Amino acid sequence: MTYDVEAIRAEFPILQRQVGDWPLAYLDSANTSQKPRVVVEAIEEHYLRHNANVARAMHMLGAEATEAYEGARARIAQFIGAARPEEIVFTKNASEALNLAAHTLGAGLGPGDEVVTTVMEHHSNIVPWQMLCERTGATLRWFDVTPDGRLDLDKAEADGLINERTRIVTLTWVSNVLGTRNPVAKVAELAHAVGAKVVVDGSQAVPHQRTDVASLGADILAFTGHKMCGPTGIGVLWGRHDLLETLPPFLGGGEMIEIVEMERSTFAAPPYRFEAGTPPIAQAVGLAAACDFLDGIGLDAIEAHEHAITEYALDKLLAIDGFQLLGPSDVYERGPAISFNIDGVHPHDVMQLFDSRGVAIRGGHHCARPLHRRFGVQSSTRASSYLYTTTAEIDALADAMVYTRDYFAPRFGG
Ligand SMILES: Cc1ncc(COP(=O)(O)O)c(C=O)c1O
Repeated sequence: MTYDVEAIRAEFPILQRQVGDWPLAYLDSANTSQKPRVVVEAIEEHYLRHNANVARAMHMLGAEATEAYEGARARIAQFIGAARPEEIVFTKNASEALNLAAHTLGAGLGPGDEVVTTVMEHHSNIVPWQMLCERTGATLRWFDVTPDGRLDLDKAEADGLINERTRIVTLTWVSNVLGTRNPVAKVAELAHAVGAKVVVDGSQAVPHQRTDVASLGADILAFTGHKMCGPTGIGVLWGRHDLLETLPPFLGGGEMIEIVEMERSTFAAPPYRFEAGTPPIAQAVGLAAACDFLDGIGLDAIEAHEHAITEYALDKLLAIDGFQLLGPSDVYERGPAISFNIDGVHPHDVMQLFDSRGVAIRGGHHCARPLHRRFGVQSSTRASSYLYTTTAEIDALADAMVYTRDYFAPRFGG
């Protein structure tokens, strides 16, 4: 079956917008994706017909809302190949899921223990581990990257980065800046060989490729709904059930308990132990609709489309004088985020000029300041595509690039 990008775009009314006289080219999906009509309708239908709190109300609407919420849990479990719905914990975003992982997995850590992350992480997968190490006296260490933006496994081996003191290894599956796709299974093998647990940040991977947690190698996977056609306000932590059962709670409150007395409480089984208070019910319903939508197109077809778009984009952009790519140029080892600098032009100027031509991209350090420092740059500009991106939008990107370069750096003589 051919991939009908125009039919897919028709499901996203926002993509028809104009920016002044220019058609919108939305190339900021790594930041947040657009939402198809079915997701918005599922949320609307929930609020208009089934709204009630879950688990507490013994009435028809309460039962319907609970069924919808637990149905969403089962749908998301199926989407990532989880063994059972109880392995899915709903959070408010990936950041909360990673904080949950750091708090619970790291509860017993102390001086002499080591946590390993990477220099290419989003701040969401650095700061919670720094906070953990400050609390417990454990030491934070990290994988470096090679000049072309891959994890430096050779240096890690030479430095003995993963060793008998390592308790947790955490890494992003796909970098939000470089686009690098990391060898998660290989890193997990090294970590498991020394008895460490593996936490994977799947925020930039789960939206773009088939996920099978059974073969991924992770003990915990975190991702976020709004980057995968779902609503904001919902994230997911997946963990093996036997592991989740051993972990202490994260936040305290209603619905995460078994019995509460004034002196102490006992806690519910997972996943409820980790879901204090009223959960993101409508958001879970919306995320389940997003999974239906993505599966309806097929994750393999989506990945192939993005692969072709990324190859097309890299071919065009790398041919532009003054374009400086951060990250691997080999399309086989990368996701769709392309970060770059234009020689001599500040990313904020780049963003502004691109916006004036309808091209929506992101400039700054993309919540990955250590990575930018590692490359000796303050910031970069990022174009990121998704299942609805067209070659015409990439053409608009390349045109904006040449226009901006020549506007600010006329020495290129365009
Ligand atoms: C790799 C990565 N991890 C974590 C996050 C944080 O996601 P959220 O803001 O939804 O918590 C992002 C978002 O940009 C990301 O790209």
